[in-house]
Amino acid sequence: MSNLTLIANPTKTISGTVIVPGDKSISHRAIIFSMLCKGRTKIYNLLESEDVKRTIDVSQSLGSNIITNNQFIDIHGLGIDGISEPKSVLDFGNSGTSLRLFMGILSSQTFTTTLTGDHSLLKRPMERVASPLRLMGANISTNNGKAPVKILPPLGKFHGIDYRLDIPSAQIKSAIILASLFCRNKTILHTDTTTRDHTENMLKLFNYPISTSKNSIEVNPGILESPKIIKVPGDFSSASFFIVAALLSEDSRIIIKNVGLNPTRTGLINILRLMGADIQVDITNKNYEATGDVIVSSSKLMGIKVPNKLISLAIDELPLIFLAAAMASDETIIRNAEELRFKESDRIKSMVDLLKNLSIEVNEYQDGLEIKGGNISGGIINSFGDHRIAMTALVASSIAKEKIEVENCENINTSFPSFITLMNSIGMNIIKKEL
Ligand code: S3P
Repeated sequence: MSNLTLIANPTKTISGTVIVPGDKSISHRAIIFSMLCKGRTKIYNLLESEDVKRTIDVSQSLGSNIITNNQFIDIHGLGIDGISEPKSVLDFGNSGTSLRLFMGILSSQTFTTTLTGDHSLLKRPMERVASPLRLMGANISTNNGKAPVKILPPLGKFHGIDYRLDIPSAQIKSAIILASLFCRNKTILHTDTTTRDHTENMLKLFNYPISTSKNSIEVNPGILESPKIIKVPGDFSSASFFIVAALLSEDSRIIIKNVGLNPTRTGLINILRLMGADIQVDITNKNYEATGDVIVSSSKLMGIKVPNKLISLAIDELPLIFLAAAMASDETIIRNAEELRFKESDRIKSMVDLLKNLSIEVNEYQDGLEIKGGNISGGIINSFGDHRIAMTALVASSIAKEKIEVENCENINTSFPSFITLMNSIGMNIIKKEL
């Protein structure tokens, strides 16, 4: 059971320049594609966090040779046919992305694997990934729809599919794309909702025959060619905590350098601008992933009805949008966000609890929230072991009247171990509670 409690004391002005650590989603994919490709790949700026460590550990259990030094990690890839049977159950800890992406990789193998995770991961839905993989020939069983997931060798031929993605999830999409690398025929995916496209971008970087249009993806049989070097951009999701802290604090201005600005990830900026935020973006690099700088100044925000099409582009940042809405004039309505119920915690429920504890009026819907802007008090918040809820609650101290105490904060290490140090470097005041 977690016992790390953090205390965030109210602050006024924050300022400075921040460089956030590497992107979590891209770090997972960089390791996975380097493993699946023959030859050596060096990965720079890989995120060092618990979740990414799980992806490294599982890749090693499947036979990859991974050498880490303090500048880069060096992966000697196995090639698409080189994965070997692990000696034990594969434990993905808190990392839903890793577990689901590996379901795609392991579905076509000639040996049996069992994939499991921690208390939170065991509560998250896995049938949504298992069922399209079964259409490709996978022999998968789940535990009442959840992990542990058992993957046996396919009974017949493993093959590509023509499939409509009804759930707006990059993890489902990526698991199918990964599975399709092991097929002799093509896979076509249709989708009406845009979700993060890092898997597609990374495959293009590996010179793989994938084509993408607004509503479809076609993956053809081909060979992965190592780009030799992959540079992981800063994580926009980590940068988002600084963006919202600067907007809410008085007389504040911060610069975030070299952060990933892939448009399938930056919905937070679009939503906050609609609320009146002063955010400038300068794209400096358009390699396989766009990167650049973001400058944010304190702003008065107003409530809006968040456009449905921006929800999937800000999915991990919606808790921060809820917090910004709590400080905005009038009401903000966020709907079409039911996916939040399937994250590391039920993030709609966790945020209702958080906002009510900080004296904000909120109405809960199955797929979202209606939030009435007000004054944030201090309070004691349970993060429900969810890293993004914990960090959102701590950011609230930039505008709170009294201190905010956040329980259950260990899981910040799954995505952003340097969060407290970086936050305090721009003027926040977050300390560990001595128990
Ligand atoms: C991720 C996809 C999203 C996101 C998660 C990371 C990824 O999940 O919430 O933090 O790296 O593919 P869903 O695919 O379930 O929306």
